[in-house]
Amino acid sequence: MSERIRVLMVCLGNICRSPTAEAVFRARVEAAGLAGLIEVDSAGTSDWHVGDPPHPPSIEAAARRGYDLRPLRARQVKREDFETFHHVLAMDRQNLIDLRGLCPPGREARLRLFLSHGTQGREEVPDPYGLHEAVYTDVLDLVEDASEGLLRHILEAHRLVRLGT
Ligand code: 4NP
Repeated sequence: MSERIRVLMVCLGNICRSPTAEAVFRARVEAAGLAGLIEVDSAGTSDWHVGDPPHPPSIEAAARRGYDLRPLRARQVKREDFETFHHVLAMDRQNLIDLRGLCPPGREARLRLFLSHGTQGREEVPDPYGLHEAVYTDVLDLVEDASEGLLRHILEAHRLVRLGT
Protein backbone atom coordinates (compact mmCIF):
# COMPACT_ATOMS: atom_id res chain seq x y z
CA MET A 1 0.00 0.00 0.00
CA SER A 2 1.43 3.37 -0.94
CA GLU A 3 1.32 6.42 1.34
CA ARG A 4 -1.90 8.45 1.45
CA ILE A 5 -1.94 11.74 -0.44
CA ARG A 6 -2.40 14.58 2.03
CA VAL A 7 -3.96 17.96 1.17
CA LEU A 8 -3.90 21.04 3.43
CA MET A 9 -6.23 24.04 2.85
CA VAL A 10 -4.92 27.30 4.36
CA CYS A 11 -6.44 30.74 5.01
CA LEU A 12 -5.90 33.44 7.65
CA GLY A 13 -8.21 32.42 10.50
CA ASN A 14 -9.10 28.80 9.64
CA ILE A 15 -12.72 29.57 10.54
CA CYS A 16 -14.23 30.62 7.16
CA ARG A 17 -12.53 29.76 3.85
CA SER A 18 -10.17 26.87 4.60
CA PRO A 19 -12.65 24.82 6.68
CA THR A 20 -15.14 25.32 3.83
CA ALA A 21 -12.52 24.11 1.35
CA GLU A 22 -11.66 21.17 3.61
CA ALA A 23 -15.29 20.01 3.85
CA VAL A 24 -16.11 20.55 0.16
CA PHE A 25 -12.95 18.85 -1.10
CA ARG A 26 -13.43 15.95 1.35
CA ALA A 27 -16.97 15.49 0.01
CA ARG A 28 -15.59 15.35 -3.57
CA VAL A 29 -12.96 12.81 -2.51
CA GLU A 30 -15.59 10.66 -0.78
CA ALA A 31 -17.95 10.88 -3.77
CA ALA A 32 -15.10 9.65 -5.98
CA GLY A 33 -14.54 6.69 -3.64
CA LEU A 34 -11.04 7.94 -2.78
CA ALA A 35 -11.38 8.56 0.97
CA GLY A 36 -8.90 5.78 1.70
CA LEU A 37 -6.34 7.39 -0.58
CA ILE A 38 -6.65 11.16 -0.08
CA GLU A 39 -6.66 12.88 3.33
CA VAL A 40 -7.77 16.50 3.82
CA ASP A 41 -7.08 19.02 6.60
CA SER A 42 -7.07 22.81 7.02
CA ALA A 43 -5.15 25.43 9.03
CA GLY A 44 -4.73 29.18 9.45
CA THR A 45 -1.65 31.35 9.04
CA SER A 46 -2.67 33.17 12.25
CA ASP A 47 -3.26 31.77 15.74
CA TRP A 48 -6.25 34.05 16.33
CA HIS A 49 -8.93 31.35 16.39
CA VAL A 50 -7.02 28.23 17.45
CA GLY A 51 -9.47 25.69 18.92
CA ASP A 52 -12.55 27.55 17.63
CA PRO A 53 -15.26 25.97 15.47
CA PRO A 54 -15.87 27.55 12.04
CA HIS A 55 -17.59 30.96 11.97
CA PRO A 56 -21.41 30.52 12.19
CA PRO A 57 -22.16 32.18 8.79
CA SER A 58 -19.70 29.73 7.16
CA ILE A 59 -21.36 26.78 8.92
CA GLU A 60 -24.78 27.98 7.73
CA ALA A 61 -23.75 28.68 4.13
CA ALA A 62 -22.06 25.27 3.86
CA ALA A 63 -25.04 23.50 5.46
CA ARG A 64 -27.32 24.95 2.77
CA ARG A 65 -25.29 22.92 0.26
CA GLY A 66 -25.07 19.80 2.39
CA TYR A 67 -21.60 20.21 3.97
CA ASP A 68 -21.16 19.85 7.75
CA LEU A 69 -18.46 22.17 9.11
CA ARG A 70 -19.52 21.79 12.77
CA PRO A 71 -16.95 19.13 13.83
CA LEU A 72 -13.97 21.17 12.54
CA ARG A 73 -11.64 23.14 14.87
CA ALA A 74 -9.11 25.79 13.92
CA ARG A 75 -5.37 25.26 14.18
CA GLN A 76 -2.33 27.23 13.04
CA VAL A 77 -0.21 26.04 10.13
CA LYS A 78 3.32 24.93 11.07
CA ARG A 79 6.58 24.35 9.25
CA GLU A 80 6.29 20.55 9.60
CA ASP A 81 3.03 20.67 7.61
CA PHE A 82 5.21 21.00 4.50
CA GLU A 83 6.68 17.58 5.28
CA THR A 84 3.33 15.96 6.11
CA PHE A 85 1.19 17.44 3.32
CA HIS A 86 1.89 16.91 -0.38
CA HIS A 87 -0.42 19.75 -1.48
CA VAL A 88 -0.67 23.02 0.49
CA LEU A 89 -3.34 25.31 -0.98
CA ALA A 90 -3.48 29.02 -0.11
CA MET A 91 -6.84 30.79 -0.30
CA ASP A 92 -5.35 34.21 -1.15
CA ARG A 93 -2.07 35.86 -2.15
CA GLN A 94 -1.26 37.07 1.36
CA ASN A 95 -1.70 33.49 2.65
CA LEU A 96 0.68 32.39 -0.12
CA ILE A 97 3.28 34.99 0.91
CA ASP A 98 3.00 33.97 4.58
CA LEU A 99 3.27 30.28 3.69
CA ARG A 100 6.35 30.91 1.52
CA GLY A 101 7.98 32.43 4.61
CA LEU A 102 7.31 29.24 6.56
CA CYS A 103 8.12 26.74 3.80
CA PRO A 104 11.37 24.75 4.23
CA PRO A 105 13.81 24.79 1.29
CA GLY A 106 12.94 22.21 -1.35
CA ARG A 107 9.23 22.05 -0.47
CA GLU A 108 8.06 25.08 -2.54
CA ALA A 109 6.48 22.88 -5.23
CA ARG A 110 3.91 21.69 -2.68
CA LEU A 111 2.53 25.22 -2.32
CA ARG A 112 -0.02 26.83 -4.68
CA LEU A 113 -3.01 29.15 -4.76
CA PHE A 114 -6.12 26.95 -4.44
CA LEU A 115 -7.88 28.81 -7.27
CA SER A 116 -5.05 27.91 -9.68
CA HIS A 117 -7.19 24.75 -9.98
CA GLY A 118 -10.36 26.72 -10.72
CA THR A 119 -12.04 27.66 -13.99
CA GLN A 120 -13.52 31.05 -13.00
CA GLY A 121 -10.52 33.25 -13.86
CA ARG A 122 -10.24 34.30 -10.20
CA GLU A 123 -7.04 34.08 -8.12
CA GLU A 124 -8.29 34.54 -4.59
CA VAL A 125 -11.08 33.17 -2.43
CA PRO A 126 -12.39 36.43 -0.86
CA ASP A 127 -12.20 36.78 2.90
CA PRO A 128 -15.90 36.79 3.92
CA TYR A 129 -15.31 37.47 7.65
CA GLY A 130 -17.82 40.11 8.80
CA LEU A 131 -19.24 40.53 5.30
CA HIS A 132 -22.64 39.87 3.73
CA GLU A 133 -24.07 36.39 3.14
CA ALA A 134 -23.49 36.81 -0.61
CA VAL A 135 -19.72 36.66 -0.02
CA TYR A 136 -20.09 33.31 1.77
CA THR A 137 -22.04 32.04 -1.25
CA ASP A 138 -19.28 33.31 -3.56
CA VAL A 139 -16.72 31.46 -1.40
CA LEU A 140 -18.69 28.22 -1.82
CA ASP A 141 -19.04 28.66 -5.59
CA LEU A 142 -15.28 29.20 -5.98
CA VAL A 143 -14.37 26.38 -3.61
CA GLU A 144 -16.68 23.87 -5.30
CA ASP A 145 -15.27 24.76 -8.72
CA ALA A 146 -11.60 24.58 -7.65
CA SER A 147 -12.20 21.30 -5.79
CA GLU A 148 -13.11 19.60 -9.07
CA GLY A 149 -9.88 20.85 -10.65
CA LEU A 150 -7.77 19.93 -7.65
CA LEU A 151 -9.09 16.38 -7.62
CA ARG A 152 -8.32 16.03 -11.36
CA HIS A 153 -4.84 17.48 -10.79
CA ILE A 154 -4.08 15.07 -7.94
CA LEU A 155 -5.27 12.05 -9.89
CA GLU A 156 -3.07 13.05 -12.82
CA ALA A 157 -0.05 14.20 -10.79
CA HIS A 158 0.01 10.98 -8.79
CA ARG A 159 -0.72 8.94 -11.95
CA LEU A 160 -3.94 7.53 -10.54
CA VAL A 161 -5.63 8.05 -13.90
CA ARG A 162 -4.24 7.64 -17.40
CA LEU A 163 -3.70 10.94 -19.23
CA GLY A 164 -5.37 11.38 -22.62
CA THR A 165 -5.80 8.46 -25.02
P1 4NP B 1 -10.70 33.06 7.16
O1 4NP B 1 -11.47 34.42 7.59
O2 4NP B 1 -9.24 33.47 6.97
O3 4NP B 1 -11.36 32.69 5.88
O4 4NP B 1 -10.91 32.08 8.29
C1 4NP B 1 -11.09 35.21 8.67
C2 4NP B 1 -11.47 34.85 9.94
C3 4NP B 1 -11.14 35.68 11.01
C4 4NP B 1 -10.44 36.85 10.79
C5 4NP B 1 -10.06 37.20 9.51
C6 4NP B 1 -10.38 36.38 8.45
N1 4NP B 1 -10.14 37.70 11.90
O5 4NP B 1 -9.69 38.84 11.65
O6 4NP B 1 -10.32 37.29 13.06
